[in-house]
Amino acid sequence: MSGRFLVTGGAGYVGSHCVATLLDRGHQVVVIDDLSRGHREAVLEGAVLIEGRCGDPATLARAFALGPFDAVLHFAAHSLVGESMAEPFPYFRDNVGEGIALLEAALAAGVRRFVLSSTANLFGAPAEMPITEDTPLAPASPYGESKFFFERILAWADRIFGLRYATLRYFNAAGADPAGRLGEDHDPETHLIPLALDAALGRRPPLTIFGTDYPTPDGTCIRDYIHVSDLATAHLAALEAIARGSRAYNLGTGHGYSVREVIAAVERVTGRRVPVIEGARRAGDPPVLVASSARIQAETGWQPRFTTLDEIIATAHAWRLAHPDGYR
Ligand code: UFG
Repeated sequence: MSGRFLVTGGAGYVGSHCVATLLDRGHQVVVIDDLSRGHREAVLEGAVLIEGRCGDPATLARAFALGPFDAVLHFAAHSLVGESMAEPFPYFRDNVGEGIALLEAALAAGVRRFVLSSTANLFGAPAEMPITEDTPLAPASPYGESKFFFERILAWADRIFGLRYATLRYFNAAGADPAGRLGEDHDPETHLIPLALDAALGRRPPLTIFGTDYPTPDGTCIRDYIHVSDLATAHLAALEAIARGSRAYNLGTGHGYSVREVIAAVERVTGRRVPVIEGARRAGDPPVLVASSARIQAETGWQPRFTTLDEIIATAHAWRLAHPDGYR
């Protein structure tokens, strides 16, 4: 059955891929995005874009006038761990404050389903892998803390107003739309895979490996890279699951890859060498983050379609070749 969804941050990297999946499945989509980090070109034809901030009353009024909505999917946020360690207040003010304004407007408009983009940063640097939904929460940065606060606010909205919500703790989003319509284009770019691809293609300086003395087999950090379109389908699975009650789900593939393994995969996929510099650790990087997504798989049947790093990187590479300057 076709639904109608309000998506904040729908011009951003993960949000735009989720909008694409919603449209592909025949749903109607209204996007709120201020285009401060997102791209107008990333909002596919068929979606309505309302330009503005997701905590701005006039923007919210315009958006909810286009309802009624079956659910709100809230992607808009500041989302860089390192940036949040230097400039914490926009993270608290906007990720929490604007989220509350959105939530109040959604509840006033009668919306009772809500999906939050949350993060693996909630878990800090746990000793035991993989990370399950029962791993203790210990946010490692103002970014993670802002998502933790908003998860708690959603829990109260459930208790008081009967909101059904899912908080989805993304591990490392990677890759690009397999149909080639969308990709990853951040400014500044800080993420490993796009930087490694650009270094291989000679479009950026050599890649700096942040730390080679971690307690991992090759000394570099291990992460769980999940394809952005698999994150998108997980949102739809979660929306069905919350009919049975609010949920938190960890989203990864369950496989961890070191920075050196990612570089080797980029070299296989591109057929080019990635020039590297071995540098110091980056503040706040936990040595290993690998997800268990057993809960969402058991409860909804969701499975990641992209299970190998090479497949994920191949989609990112294809988009980068077709869009060497991103959306510009
Ligand atoms: N890295 C490098 N060199 C670079 C960039 C990254 O060595 O130039 C390393 C990082 O130190 C890290 C790994 O590559 O070990 C991945 O780094 P990313 O910056 O690509 O991603 P993060 O793991 O830092 O963060 C991402 C999201 C966050 C989210 C987190 C959850 O950006 O929003 O995953 O795991 F919180």
